[in-house]
Amino acid sequence: MKESVVRLSSLSFQYEDGKKILDHINFNMEKGDFVGLVGPNGSGKSTLMKLILGLLPPKEGTVELFGTPVQKFRDWTKIGYVAQQAAHGTGGFPATVKEVVASGLVGKVGLFRRLKREHYEKVAEVVKRVGLGEKLNDRIGKLSGGQLQRVFIARALVADPELLILDEPTVGVDQESIEQFYGLLRSLKEENELTMMIVSHDVGVMTQWVNKVACLQRGLHFHGTADEFAHNQDKILQSMYGDAIRVLAHHH
Ligand SMILES: Nc1ncnc2c1ncn2[C@@H]1O[C@H](COP(=O)(O)OP(=O)(O)OP(=O)(O)O)[C@@H](O)[C@H]1O
Ligand SMILES: [Mg+2]
Repeated sequence: MKESVVRLSSLSFQYEDGKKILDHINFNMEKGDFVGLVGPNGSGKSTLMKLILGLLPPKEGTVELFGTPVQKFRDWTKIGYVAQQAAHGTGGFPATVKEVVASGLVGKVGLFRRLKREHYEKVAEVVKRVGLGEKLNDRIGKLSGGQLQRVFIARALVADPELLILDEPTVGVDQESIEQFYGLLRSLKEENELTMMIVSHDVGVMTQWVNKVACLQRGLHFHGTADEFAHNQDKILQSMYGDAIRVLAHHH
């Protein structure tokens, strides 16, 4: 059996003020899985990711990372994360692409240690892989929204994570770059057996790249392989989104 990377058992969650958002979620990610997380706005996708990342405490049920309960997990450098709208509102921050991407190494190198040449070589390599090689020394304030989004993807990748959590990373990224982006993820997955979870509302494109799909709406509405999803896609999306489904399915 493959190593379990994320294991959610009977996981439920609600914010202090609100109704139950996640209701008894059971879900496993094994090493090398690429999971697409689908669901309407407000269905709890970002909340689920924050629970996996230990940013919110599980109230009922358990989250295990690499076989360890999230409360005891300390190996956070194994996990890379691109938050939803990571690039939003950071344009005025006076740092260069190199500096922002290098900040992704802090967990590994230590906050007050100086980065060595090999670290900066790694930074340059990752920046090149996301297609921003020529922008390495530019200030992020000069970048477009989609370019900035790629800087945050590079920052999540620079420490060679084993698990990558991507919350709508392709918003604002043009169609051609999205294909390149998924291509990059696929090669990282093949090279390093990277395990990934991605949220995208662009279901048509996303499901062509992932091997598992999970549909969230309070409970897990569906989870299975990408093929199983593709065979029942219309039914699943229809019952989750109602008529808004057309917006999603007709993308490719
Ligand atoms: N910090 C918070 N405090 C209280 N309620 C919250 C908080 N964050 C989110 N919520 C609520 O929890 C529900 C789920 O939010 P969440 O951000 O997980 O949804 P989502 O599936 O990621 O949506 P989207 O597709 O819009 O990103 C929403 O109803 C939201 O209003
Ligand atoms: Mg969200």
